[in-house]
Amino acid sequence: MTQDELKALVGQAALRYIQPGTLVGVGTGSTVNKFIDALASMKGQIAGAVSSSVASTERLQAIGIPVFDANEVGELAVYVDGADEIDGGGHMVKGGGAALTREKIVAAQSRQFICIADESKKVQTLGAFPLPVEVIPMASARLVRQFAQMGGRATLRLKDGAPLVTDNGQHILDVTGLKISDPLGFELQVSQWPGVVTVGVFAFQKANVCLLGTAQGVQTLNF
Ligand code: 5RP
Repeated sequence: MTQDELKALVGQAALRYIQPGTLVGVGTGSTVNKFIDALASMKGQIAGAVSSSVASTERLQAIGIPVFDANEVGELAVYVDGADEIDGGGHMVKGGGAALTREKIVAAQSRQFICIADESKKVQTLGAFPLPVEVIPMASARLVRQFAQMGGRATLRLKDGAPLVTDNGQHILDVTGLKISDPLGFELQVSQWPGVVTVGVFAFQKANVCLLGTAQGVQTLNF
């Protein structure tokens, strides 16, 4: 099976966690796009969605699913999102699609995080994928130096030759060279650095379930 087919498989499998009549938290990325495509089959049954990005909002609305502001609704039963890496404890690195801040917000508003990923995302220790960190632009040079002090190499993410601007009007640093063996401690530490909006380690908002697409089918990991 191709990676694209594995993504479609887990996108479809996530439907079994969606209860009719509820609002669904929706993440961002190519795997989530497959989930949104699958969700079209339930659009008359769900109350709507809370989305983590402009891109997902547009995709949901295009298929007729109403999208609500996070402030208009209470707790969500389920949040479905992809990951750039997931370890054996359900801790993740996210933000490859630059949507990490809103993803963490919607995940925090949800009782259950259902991670959908192909098997290439499963790792022993987080850190091989460059860690995305959303930052306030005026702090980026100092934050590059702070990451260097812990052995990381941070670079400003560019788009069309200019700094990428997130949905929140901020910039992204991608940090290589880190081995994140204590995801909770790492998230706690970096989140407190002035100028960090969101660090892409999801340890406090870790996955409760991972639907992992493998050549043998969908493997369900519970954390
Ligand atoms: C976006 C994310 C995505 O969930 C992550 O990048 C995985 O994306 P994809 O499903 O395209 O591999 O965190 O900010």
